[in-house]
Amino acid sequence: MVHTRFCDLLGIRHPIVLGGMGGGATVAALVAAVSNSGGLGILGTSGTDGSKLKAEAEAIRRATDKPFGINHLLFEVDEERFSAALAARPAVASFAWARPDQDLRSYFDRSHEAGCKVMYMGGEVPETVRAAEAGADIIVAQGTEAGGHVAWMASLPLVPMVVQAVAPLPVLAAGGIADGRGLAAALALGADGVLIGTRLLASNESPLHPNFKQAIVRSDGHDTVLTEIPDVAAGRIWPGAMSRALRNDFIQRWAGREWALRQNQRAVAQSVLEARKQGDADNAPLFIGQDAGLIDAIKSAAEIVEGMAAEAEEIIKNRLAVLVRSR
Ligand SMILES: Cc1cc2nc3c(=O)[nH]c(=O)nc-3n(C[C@H](O)[C@H](O)[C@H](O)COP(=O)(O)O)c2cc1C
Repeated sequence: MVHTRFCDLLGIRHPIVLGGMGGGATVAALVAAVSNSGGLGILGTSGTDGSKLKAEAEAIRRATDKPFGINHLLFEVDEERFSAALAARPAVASFAWARPDQDLRSYFDRSHEAGCKVMYMGGEVPETVRAAEAGADIIVAQGTEAGGHVAWMASLPLVPMVVQAVAPLPVLAAGGIADGRGLAAALALGADGVLIGTRLLASNESPLHPNFKQAIVRSDGHDTVLTEIPDVAAGRIWPGAMSRALRNDFIQRWAGREWALRQNQRAVAQSVLEARKQGDADNAPLFIGQDAGLIDAIKSAAEIVEGMAAEAEEIIKNRLAVLVRSR
């Protein structure tokens, strides 16, 4: 079994974490399924409110007695939602995307007082050092291959840089990881585990419309793009990030015409909501990572987590260990 100090820190079986994806991409059923299979499920909170969050956390508790986490996008943190999350006493309070002027320590201290371990995800070394200095317990190094909002550095150089910069804190690698090969590679880079998103969006328990899950299966991973179009369409200003999304009709329609999109923002936002509801994967943004090219079937969260752990173990024991010869 692949076991790291990250597993010990949280009392979990596999060093595999469901990223707290917002906008309804994570729900109690998915979070609980990942935690029940020995990983750590994290619930996203963007787009929800305090009372819905409370209900969702209660649903997770009913479905699992294992540790789980709750995620916060710091630049748009909302006090009612944040207090509701702490009141749920998750094992992990995870954070990402702080504004440069935000005081991380106050959020981290309050999370610690609520009994949570603090996880912070960043895509650049200085950002992760800032979080480590503010008292984070676990750092996530997110490479630009990831789905959703990302920075510019690829995981291969970023992960070891972050491991070194925030030592001795445990680091998780995120971005581009969808199977045991990715987990084994992340461990080789010095990470203590992985945080994944896209792979689990294409799971039975994911709340995505089946057509969006099929779009992930169909993607060859070469068809994603870094773009501001989904944020412009949502009327949202994200601090210093593009998002990685499928280059579908929606993105192609507005590429290079962001000014026109701004002019029509309200109408487009409404049509995106409608397209999402109808499962029209051509006419709404779909945030996915380059690892969509590694995903060829929709599986249960348990199959994904356990399969990933077993494949990484097999690679380390049978493929990598035999490469070492005594001279
Ligand atoms: C649809 C979607 C929504 C996301 N929302 C959030 C979020 O609200 N907070 C966060 O910290 N990360 C968010 N992420 C990023 C994930 O936590 C994670 O870093 C990423 O999915 C890892 O890359 P992968 O998709 O290649 O596995 C989101 C990712 C996706 C695909």
